[in-house]
Amino acid sequence: MSRTAIYPGSFDPLTYGHVSIIERGLRVFDRIIVGIAINVRKTPLFSVDERVELIRGSFPEEERLEIDSFQGLLIDYAQQRNCQVILRGLRAVSDFEYELQMANMNRKLDDRIETMFMMTEESHFYVSSGLVKEVARFDGSVRDQVPDHVEEALAEKFAIQKS
Ligand code: PNS
Repeated sequence: MSRTAIYPGSFDPLTYGHVSIIERGLRVFDRIIVGIAINVRKTPLFSVDERVELIRGSFPEEERLEIDSFQGLLIDYAQQRNCQVILRGLRAVSDFEYELQMANMNRKLDDRIETMFMMTEESHFYVSSGLVKEVARFDGSVRDQVPDHVEEALAEKFAIQKS
């Protein structure tokens, strides 16, 4: 049986931390669906289409990777797409409580879908999309945190906002 994992998140924008989880996830699962959550309470910097493009830019040839978006509950989307696993990356200890709550809630909603965690690589431990945006907004370098095409997209986005 083929194993499909959903890797959900905001991906606003993709960081090397996300890239590492996707690469390593593809070694374990047959397919990964990156699910960009559309959160009506958040105002993202990048549109869904832009976020899809930035993720695809890091995996142009990877046929086992699908990039999609969803609205509403993650568990409903995971069921619709026949995913057996929800994949999440864990960074510092501070992620743990939030992730534990989500994993428990999702298990209550459907205990056939398992949440699995991958520890973020040491070098990406302190990388977050939020911090990357903050640094890039003020022209700081995010070269070590995001792929080149994401760095360029950030610079372009903030240049437009400032003009
Ligand atoms: O990258 P993020 O923003 O930390 O990802 C959070 C995400 C998208 C996984 C979470 O907010 C989510 O699952 N949203 C969809 C709505 C939902 O199912 N909420 C209940 C989670 S228990």
